Amino acid sequence: MSSQLNIRNVPPDVRHWIRRETERTQQKQNEFLIGTLRQAAQLSYTPALPFDSPQIRPSPRDHRLPFSFIDLFAGIGGFRIALEENGGSCVFTSEWDRYSQRTYHKWFGELPRGDITKIHPSEIPDHDILAAGFPCQPFSIAGVSKKNSLGRLHGFDCVTQGNLFFNIATIAQIKRPPVLLLENVKNLKSHDQGRTWKTIYATLDGLGYWIFAEIIDAAGWVPQHRERVYIVCFDKQVFRTRPAFQFPASPTNGPALQDILESNPDPKYTLTDHLWKYLQEYAERHKEKGNGFGFGLADLRGVTRTLSARYYKDGSEILIPQPRKTPRRLTPRECQRLMGFPDDPDRYPIVVSDTQAYRQFGNAVVPKVAAEVVRSILVVLRSEWERRNKGCLLKCAIPELEQAAV
Ligand SMILES: C[S@@+](CC[C@H](N)C(=O)[O-])C[C@H]1O[C@@H](n2cnc3c(N)ncnc32)[C@H](O)[C@@H]1O
Repeated sequence: MSSQLNIRNVPPDVRHWIRRETERTQQKQNEFLIGTLRQAAQLSYTPALPFDSPQIRPSPRDHRLPFSFIDLFAGIGGFRIALEENGGSCVFTSEWDRYSQRTYHKWFGELPRGDITKIHPSEIPDHDILAAGFPCQPFSIAGVSKKNSLGRLHGFDCVTQGNLFFNIATIAQIKRPPVLLLENVKNLKSHDQGRTWKTIYATLDGLGYWIFAEIIDAAGWVPQHRERVYIVCFDKQVFRTRPAFQFPASPTNGPALQDILESNPDPKYTLTDHLWKYLQEYAERHKEKGNGFGFGLADLRGVTRTLSARYYKDGSEILIPQPRKTPRRLTPRECQRLMGFPDDPDRYPIVVSDTQAYRQFGNAVVPKVAAEVVRSILVVLRSEWERRNKGCLLKCAIPELEQAAV
């Protein structure tokens, strides 16, 4: 087929729409039309899991399956660690914070692309799993119906809603990854009086995904009480019936805080007498008023409260008691362990300031929990693969489409 297309007799309403959209998106007509056609072309097929290819067909004994994934809102790559550990290859990553990018680059040798709202989905390679721990924001649209939420997804219209979830939804709509793996704070379901969750559910459902969601406490894997909602979705075009997916059960004998503490922490993490006095008085004042605000002196044989991205402020939510001294904050290295990141300073060094390191760990997903969820996803993928006699698991990608799209 020639790379030139001449289209005659374009109806006036379509001409009008093209003019309006090129003005709005400030694209050249050619650019806009190719982008639109590319989206339409990509919608008509589902990317294949790479184990269609004979070269990388997994051994039947190997619990891992080779697959590709993208890492959105990547932070410092908590999902990447979990996915790579299970055989995944990262084909695209986006994170706009330059300090997180610095850590990510050091750890994975790859600089993430920036603002996801500025990246057109057609720039993202095909992938099997879309992973994203997206920021939780309120949705501006009230009472969203399935139809409404989907109607707003075309192209980049989603961006005008100012909600990053719609960027994920648009990518899913255009790229059709067979699996979505999302993570968010526990209160996602109650956030904005339930509207946020209602919109997310309706959107994913409307896109044609089977949806599984569960709150998991990381305390079974790390000495930290950290409840997060995990959302796992399977494309109905691939998985014709609802898969028998099950979230992992939490181990009962998790590690204790004392197992992850440094033996000789720098004295700079010990609170000054002044700050310690202030925190005690502050807690006392709130206790008198009948509420529970205050510092959290951790139990060394138990688990800590949730590490937040604000820990750098005064660190009062998790304080480590010390004999004959004021308590101390956790060191960044201890936060790395508390979050279940690999404890390997050579391979995963901290390359940013303490403030940035606290923020990065406090924002992250716990890789050990994510890895368990990934293993549960792979059980479903493997059983589907075996059901199809180890043949082509998913609809095959059509390479000519990619060439023809330009
Ligand atoms: C909850 S954190 C995810 C952390 C990640 N799961 C990890 O393990 O480190 C959300 C991340 O999204 C990033 N982010 C927010 N808006 C973004 C945007 N428009 N484009 C790219 N990244 C963005 C933030 O900088 C933050 O690192």
